[in-house]
Amino acid sequence: MMREMKAYVRQSAESRVVELADVPVPEIDEHEVLVEIHGFGVGIHDRYFIPSDASFPYPIGTEGAGIIAQIGRKVADFRIGDRVILSTSLQPKGGTWAQFAAVPENSLIRMPDELDFVRAAGIPVAGASALESLGALDLTEGDTLFVAGASGAIGTLVIQLAAVRGVRVVGSASRKNHEYMRSLGAEKTVDYSNSDWQEQVREWMPGGVDAALAIQPGTGVDSMAVVRNGGKVITVSGDSFAPERGITVRQFMHHRETRRQVIRLAHDIAAGQIQLVIERVYPFDRAIEALEKTETRHARGKIVVSIST
Ligand SMILES: NC(=O)c1ccc[n+]([C@@H]2O[C@H](COP(=O)([O-])OP(=O)(O)OC[C@H]3O[C@@H](n4cnc5c(N)ncnc54)[C@H](OP(=O)(O)O)[C@@H]3O)[C@@H](O)[C@H]2O)c1
Repeated sequence: MMREMKAYVRQSAESRVVELADVPVPEIDEHEVLVEIHGFGVGIHDRYFIPSDASFPYPIGTEGAGIIAQIGRKVADFRIGDRVILSTSLQPKGGTWAQFAAVPENSLIRMPDELDFVRAAGIPVAGASALESLGALDLTEGDTLFVAGASGAIGTLVIQLAAVRGVRVVGSASRKNHEYMRSLGAEKTVDYSNSDWQEQVREWMPGGVDAALAIQPGTGVDSMAVVRNGGKVITVSGDSFAPERGITVRQFMHHRETRRQVIRLAHDIAAGQIQLVIERVYPFDRAIEALEKTETRHARGKIVVSIST
């Protein structure tokens, strides 16, 4: 008898409507595990990211945390009952916005004991993005970094990871988030809705900052304006524009080698050395609301959905 589960799905490649449906629990192959999902992270990409070979209805979602319910014959490093963090970007069998997800063993991270499912579920996407962006900027102690969208999921981690490395951060967000960004380690904050925010950055760092991370779409060109001659800009949302004044402009790219750093980050979050800021935890039946909140682009930190069992 085919087992069914509840999942948030897209019904076709053309429609981006996400809806709750009853769908079959995915079958695992010999290198995969079936994870009972206890929580999943929400990101603006969740409505869009589906693989080209998706079959429909397709459960969306790219990150989560849960307990292994079943393992394939050739799974070596995990057991039924293990608590795990999953990263499921573009898996043909579907993602984490479901009661169960089938994933290859190599996309799992063992959950540190001190971590709960909600915080664990919010780590992979923002964590990898923050680590990879900072890695690509290659900053050292005393360097200065401007972050556009510094109070969001990626930005709240970037502020802390940069501060730990001794990088001096100026973060941009609306005024209500300034004190919060400073509490995470930003040295200076500016409000992107003030017409003179660039002058404020230049007053703080005459000659410009060493690098900028443009997280929010459309912030790349304005971010470049506060970077010194010969500095660096990374755009996270795909902004593409001509560099000026010898500045290097690159688009952010995911790469697989970050896995080890994400494991380390999960341990740092579990130990309370880095905070994973979670604005709100939504129940499973209100996941669409959670998605709509991230789509406003004004969430503070991460949004997570919890599945109670
Ligand atoms: N390339 C990739 O593989 C990849 C991976 C992950 C994410 N992304 C991209 O990264 C972006 C999401 O990052 P995220 O999840 O960190 O964002 P987020 O959580 O949605 O960021 C929200 C924060 O950004 C601030 N903000 C909104 N508009 C701003 C503006 N014009 N200037 C400065 N700050 C602004 C908001 O502050 P206020 O509320 O104070 O206004 C809010 O705190 C998406 O565009 C996504 O596509 C790309």
